[in-house]
Amino acid sequence: MPWYTRVLAHDPLPPGTVLSRRYRLLEPLGAGGSSVAWRAGDLVLGRTVALKLINNPSWAGRLHAEFSAVQGLVHPNLVRALDYEVDIERGDALEFLVYEVVSGQTLERYARQLSWSELQPVIADILAGLGFLHALGVAHGDVKANNVLVTDDGRGVLIDFGCARRFGPTFGAIAGTAGYIPPELAAGGKIDGRNDLFALGVTVERLLPQLKTPPDGRMLRLLRRLCARDVAQRPATVAEVLELFDDSRAVQLAPAGRSARLLGRDTELESFERELNDWLHRGARPVSRLLWGPSGIGKSRLLQQLKWTAQSRVRVVEGSSALAEWSRALRPWPNPSKRWFVAKVASESPVWSK
Ligand SMILES: Nc1ncnc2c1ncn2[C@@H]1O[C@H](COP(=O)(O)OP(=O)(O)OP(=O)(O)O)[C@@H](O)[C@H]1O
Ligand SMILES: [Mg+2]
Repeated sequence: MPWYTRVLAHDPLPPGTVLSRRYRLLEPLGAGGSSVAWRAGDLVLGRTVALKLINNPSWAGRLHAEFSAVQGLVHPNLVRALDYEVDIERGDALEFLVYEVVSGQTLERYARQLSWSELQPVIADILAGLGFLHALGVAHGDVKANNVLVTDDGRGVLIDFGCARRFGPTFGAIAGTAGYIPPELAAGGKIDGRNDLFALGVTVERLLPQLKTPPDGRMLRLLRRLCARDVAQRPATVAEVLELFDDSRAVQLAPAGRSARLLGRDTELESFERELNDWLHRGARPVSRLLWGPSGIGKSRLLQQLKWTAQSRVRVVEGSSALAEWSRALRPWPNPSKRWFVAKVASESPVWSK
């Protein structure tokens, strides 16, 4: 039995399976503790994507939390999330995230037989990605060599935002990987960027034995500070570490608290949210909406944003303007009151409206 069939033991999906009538599974890219990633073909946009599937039905909702943390972030050292979906036929048991494919290998594999001078730029890349995230008040929460991919041209990209948390007090169970969770979190302390610095320090320390040439004494002292059990002994910010790395790249700060925010659509988004609230309040029947207008005015991006807004509260199916396809999509949903359709048409006038 191939490894990915074992990973997806509850419902093995063979290559070739099409999810949500849009994504065709091609080949497994890798697997983690809770999920498996596939290379997949996006049949609508004709591109290749990475599709992250959860392999445990009792963890439904986790990928949506991951998507909320990463949605809209655009940075060369953070993987770019493209979409979140629940499979139309299989319903809530099969949710998935759509990411850009990072073509390369995990840092774990990449670091075998490197010298420190070759590894350091990748670590600086990860610091740059973390700096961007921290400027938004978000900690990654699961920095480790398996959650860093190194592209074929040597760029470090941080993936797996499944444990991301807002800065502030801890609540609920502590997320992360044993051995990388800083002592202050286990003791109920605050979530902030220094938690990630600890995990990054542990990550690098664990890679050191396989390096051809080790870092010099000054760098070893910095690594020891990153892994300090007492949070006050650690560097305070990513920018401070980059400076000690003698790395000239500045930490890029996210504009207006969030990058890639949809600009100039506040009116549409506000009226959509109002309508969504009213509709939820009334416990109404499934509903569908058409978004229409001349081509080139940004309907696709607006549609994406409306879908992401609604997804945190209801199930959304993105359909085409063909009525027949919509009514087919309606059938498999177990809870008929929890549906909200959004669709796009490219023509001037709606082909069909509610
Ligand atoms: N966008 C991507 N491009 C290429 N490969 C990817 C991508 N996302 C994930 N992978 C591969 O799939 C593996 C598992 O992904 P990910 O780390 O997101 O899953 P996870 O189950 O949350 O992991 P963990 O064990 O840390 O909880 C990665 O280590 C990587 O090999
Ligand atoms: Mg992972």
